[in-house]
Amino acid sequence: MKAVQVPYANELKIIEIPKPSLQNADDVLVKVKRVGICGSDMHIYHGTNPLATYPRIVGHEVAGEVIEVAEGVNNLKVGDHVVVEPISYCGECYACRKGRPNVCEKLSVFGVHEDGGMREYAVLPEKQLHAVNKELSWDEVVLAEPYTIGAQAVWRGNVEKGDTVLIQGCGPIGICILKMAKIAGATVYMTDLDEKRMDFAKESGADHVIDAGNESVKDRILELTDGEGANTVIDAVCLPSTVELSIELVSVAGNVVILGFDERPSALPQLPITKKEITITGSRLQTDQFGKVVELLNNGKLKSDGLITHRFSLNDVQEAFTFVEKNPDKVRKALIVFE
Ligand SMILES: NC(=O)c1ccc[n+]([C@@H]2O[C@H](COP(=O)([O-])OP(=O)(O)OC[C@H]3O[C@@H](n4cnc5c(N)ncnc54)[C@H](O)[C@@H]3O)[C@@H](O)[C@H]2O)c1
Ligand SMILES: [Zn+2]
Ligand SMILES: [Zn+2]
Repeated sequence: MKAVQVPYANELKIIEIPKPSLQNADDVLVKVKRVGICGSDMHIYHGTNPLATYPRIVGHEVAGEVIEVAEGVNNLKVGDHVVVEPISYCGECYACRKGRPNVCEKLSVFGVHEDGGMREYAVLPEKQLHAVNKELSWDEVVLAEPYTIGAQAVWRGNVEKGDTVLIQGCGPIGICILKMAKIAGATVYMTDLDEKRMDFAKESGADHVIDAGNESVKDRILELTDGEGANTVIDAVCLPSTVELSIELVSVAGNVVILGFDERPSALPQLPITKKEITITGSRLQTDQFGKVVELLNNGKLKSDGLITHRFSLNDVQEAFTFVEKNPDKVRKALIVFE
């Protein structure tokens, strides 16, 4: 079978490997149907993901069909449509004991620390697969993983009905956060520099979009919130300066959610943190968000609505990566289609 491998930084190739077979009692063989291309796949490709090791079969946004199940599999059957929960963990460390396996000491992310789903078939343990409604299109369900990132950020930010939320950045992650924040019942403000991305945020339900390149985000947020600031600020731009702005624009008793991997420091004064008694929290991958997201997909409350803009066949994967990289103004989410 074919798989997409990054053998080392800046090289991408389609390799031929044996089709995997069931090894453990809880294993499930999945025929891959769709894989989303994510910013972190691009980082692995370019050698700029500090967590990845090589050679690596990429792909962590994966949807497929169950082809075979081992004898110990209880909740999945042949023919089920599934999405992959891309984390595996030890179950014993402090994070795992606290119900936060997404930051397990021994965390292994499918497609980052171990080979992922950009291949024709994959074997995964049952607990890493979630069945979705078969009526839904593959293009719709493959977005489950990025939606869980949004769900996690909204959960970490304690977003509740009636709250005001500022999401910095209208990239695919910003849009996934937006959808989850609207479902939670918040009023959502967003920022970006790119007009097309801002337009899409509006189409996707943002209450107000601020052009951070031409307007003062601070003035606009204070105006929109009657001087209060946003109750939760979620940074989906992830620059040192946007972290600083988040602390500045969050309201009293508010929450700031950090999603970035940038190692450069931000300058954070203590006073606003103490004075407003804000909570600054990280959000990494997801904990227990797949169930919620799959339910929202199944009942039609969460839809892609234009989030997927490009589809490429497996053989055109190089073209896909190059196109995604060169056209951030055109591409929201691109998929590799396996047929
Ligand atoms: N913590 C996690 O689990 C997790 C998961 C996925 C992605 N991420 C991170 O989330 C971030 C967003 O991901 P994405 O795929 O949407 O990225 P992206 O690059 O597609 O989107 C970022 C957006 O921010 C905009 N932007 C740039 N500078 C800005 C500024 N000063 N003010 C306002 N907008 C600005 C860009 O125009 C772009 O639309 C990335 O840094 C990524 O590494 C974190
Ligand atoms: Zn992703
Ligand atoms: Zn652990």
